[in-house]
Amino acid sequence: MGDKTCDSATLTVDGHTVSLPMMTGSEGERAVDIRHLRRETGVITYDPGFANTGDCTSDITYIDGEHGVLRYRGYDVEDLADHCEFVEVAYLLVHGSLPNAQQKAEYSRLLNLHSLIHEDMVHFFAHYPDRAHPMAVLSAMVVSLSSFYPELGENRREDIDMTVTRLLSKLRTIAAFSYKKSLGEPIVYPRHDMKYCENFLNMMFNSPVVKDPVNPVLADALNQLLILHADHEQNCSSSVVRAVGSADANLYASISAGICALWGPLHGGANQHVIEMLQDIRANGGKVDRAIERAKNRDDSFRLMGFGHRVYKSYDPRARVAKKICKSVMAALNRQDPLLDIAQELEAKALADPYFQERNLYPNVDFYTGLTYRQMGIPTDMLTVMFAIGRLPGWIAQWLELRSEGEPKIARPRQIYTGPGLRTVVPIEERP
Ligand code: ACO
Repeated sequence: MGDKTCDSATLTVDGHTVSLPMMTGSEGERAVDIRHLRRETGVITYDPGFANTGDCTSDITYIDGEHGVLRYRGYDVEDLADHCEFVEVAYLLVHGSLPNAQQKAEYSRLLNLHSLIHEDMVHFFAHYPDRAHPMAVLSAMVVSLSSFYPELGENRREDIDMTVTRLLSKLRTIAAFSYKKSLGEPIVYPRHDMKYCENFLNMMFNSPVVKDPVNPVLADALNQLLILHADHEQNCSSSVVRAVGSADANLYASISAGICALWGPLHGGANQHVIEMLQDIRANGGKVDRAIERAKNRDDSFRLMGFGHRVYKSYDPRARVAKKICKSVMAALNRQDPLLDIAQELEAKALADPYFQERNLYPNVDFYTGLTYRQMGIPTDMLTVMFAIGRLPGWIAQWLELRSEGEPKIARPRQIYTGPGLRTVVPIEERP
């Protein structure tokens, strides 16, 4: 959309009335443009967590949280998950349209070309403690890429494709190598004869002495899960990527910062905590009611992990698709997981409870994704890494969009100071 001013709002501050232009997005969302508010009135707005604040216009992702709608570049996320590969969706997010066969082939060629990481970087893994959290390793390795690989050049399409495919390809390799390191096993190098998801599963679960074929059911499920994660407009980590990028920091540094933000348990880190919560419930005799009572108790810091969302006030469409994927994978593999039973009971009881109903708390994307990753053999502490691999094209698209708008405006919110007034320093010997 453009900066279409359709209307205006009026605000009176200390008897002085100002007219504030309004903006309307392509799907009808409306906003009051307060860019000149402070200059005209001397006041600022107060909005902790930016719950009511738009920081940018964006053509990438549309969410209607009231009706559970999520679209990338106009395509419904379920449609994409049903009909596309993750690599196509990555291309869509970055370039704005789905690739044709030739463009997809070129992307795949570049993904293969960039799949290795510099051998000096491979040595880094040896120096992390065995119990290092894989998200710590991932963010450090990504920022290190900036010292091994040249910066994103001009905004030429070839430069963008090279950088995007390099990051997509290497993030997958870094994730798999860090897992092998945690096991003390030799790394398995990427292969040019395998597609993106198959290649990742091969690096994770095969070894120089085990060369089993990758189960296509799992490769397909991985494709779908990564698509579900691929973008989510101005969420915490994407806002961080944009904020860091707005200071003119390079792409690798911006993405590394996004990985750190994603790690938080209130954001992407929730998928690890969901599995731990379900394991905890199981270990305590499967008492789902107790978890619900704890989540409702204001004196208890416990929250139902994988529940609630800042934007969705109805069922998160990604959770619906993730649940479907989880069930179909288990059916195809003829497996069962007691944690799925606990998750479904927890969901049913929470959705029937007035506390969750009144607050519009539904399962979010993290509630069911970890259960499918478990079927692939992904360890619990790597679940947020899987989210990061999926979210990478979204972060890149957000970063590129920010940079395509000319000189980005540096992210720099204001504050309302509530500390002491002016004080003078008392010599140390006279201080109480
Ligand atoms: N369990 C119990 N109560 C909850 C939960 C939950 N999971 N989530 C929100 N609430 C309650 C809050 O206590 C609050 O209650 P109150 O009105 O009585 O004070 C009300 O619902 C509104 O919650 P907020 O924290 O104000 O909502 P906000 O939009 O700020 O937070 C968040 C959203 C962080 C996702 C929150 O729902 C949460 O902590 N969920 C659990 C963690 C989680 O699953 N995070 C992943 C989110 S998806 C993603 O980032 C990929």
